[in-house]
Amino acid sequence: MRDVAIIGIGCTTFGEKWEASFRDLFVEAGSLALADAELAGEHIDAMYVGNMSAGRFIEQEHIGALIADYAGLSTRHIPSTRVEAACASGGLAFRQAVIAVASGMEDIVVAAGVEKMTDVGTGASVDTLAGAADREWEGFMGATFPGLYAMIATDYMHRYPLTREQLAMVAVKNHRNGAKNPIAQFRSEITLETVLSSALVADPLRLFDCSPITDGAAAVILAPLERAREFTDTPVKVLATAQASDTIALHDRRDISCLDATVVAGERAFAMARLPRGKIDFMEVHDCFTIAEICAIEDLGFCKKGEAGRLTEEGVTALNGDLPVNTSGGLKACGHPVGATGIKQVCEIVQQLRGEAGARQVDGEIGLTHNVGGTGATVVVHILGVT
Ligand code: COA
Repeated sequence: MRDVAIIGIGCTTFGEKWEASFRDLFVEAGSLALADAELAGEHIDAMYVGNMSAGRFIEQEHIGALIADYAGLSTRHIPSTRVEAACASGGLAFRQAVIAVASGMEDIVVAAGVEKMTDVGTGASVDTLAGAADREWEGFMGATFPGLYAMIATDYMHRYPLTREQLAMVAVKNHRNGAKNPIAQFRSEITLETVLSSALVADPLRLFDCSPITDGAAAVILAPLERAREFTDTPVKVLATAQASDTIALHDRRDISCLDATVVAGERAFAMARLPRGKIDFMEVHDCFTIAEICAIEDLGFCKKGEAGRLTEEGVTALNGDLPVNTSGGLKACGHPVGATGIKQVCEIVQQLRGEAGARQVDGEIGLTHNVGGTGATVVVHILGVT
């Protein structure tokens, strides 16, 4: 296998983007990534595009071809493939692109993600998202994503010493980081009181425990490491790519408060990178709900079960802590255009490693991304480092 590097990144702003179509979003992110790599479209050999549900959000399928067409690449007939794994579609598209370059099949490959969620109302969005769980055993019974993660939070808080305030501190931290991120959907700091007095969505989760519904796109460009310096002085090496699956329904899990697919994908990633946990300087984890960030930190092996709430309260995961988590603002404040999220996580780590993260810059040479589909039926973990 060849070593793989990221040579360009691009991200639209995230939010409710009435002024931009699905196609506009993708073209903007792709153009930014090409400009960043100082590369022309004619050099692209293949594309992998993460998208969860354009069919239901904008009534458009055949996304791989659509995107190649609107990127101006249809006359070159390049292979362009849609990748779907619910909210992990972006992370998985990145992994497919890494595999394509590592194998030697392709040289310059775009990994992108795009979702336009706000053209339908909240009800239709929430129902579409529920398709990432088990429709027959969960969705048809009325279980939404806030509802399913509320079950995880309830079980977790019954078994481990996590206070309601510590859960809220995850949102306060991520809004504080998002306020420093020019692409974030929510750029305002909030207080504990904001979270604790916000509307109850699914007990114990309140409005500010939830990621929002978001439009946005992100793209990165990959090349063999040996060619990376033809395009950039600051290539970022892919040190590990790992994926794991689990039961689609939450109630079939061994333990609903532990995402086994996160545990396994994390172990595989650390084995591939040949690194101990202590070498990770910062990470972007899948905080679709505040409880999800707590579980991710523990299930990736950074502390024991039941300890992540205390670490959050002590500031360990803050920008100036020992292990900054979700420096971008995470899904909570930066936003969660589901198919784009996994690619945005990679963009954030690359910005941090290059020292281009502005007011939210942290120190470090190795970062990790963790992207979850559904309640943990797909998990993708990547480890990235400076070269
Ligand atoms: N966090 C903070 N504020 C939020 C928010 C969130 N997650 N979602 C919406 N808001 C704000 C809006 O900006 C708006 O503020 P304004 O009145 O100042 O303009 C207000 O709340 C109402 O927005 P609206 O779009 O009407 O919210 P809603 O009640 O329709 O939807 C949720 C709120 C929580 C139900 C929705 O965001 C949701 O379902 N989130 C989860 C998405 C999800 O499951 N993703 C997949 C996870 S795996």
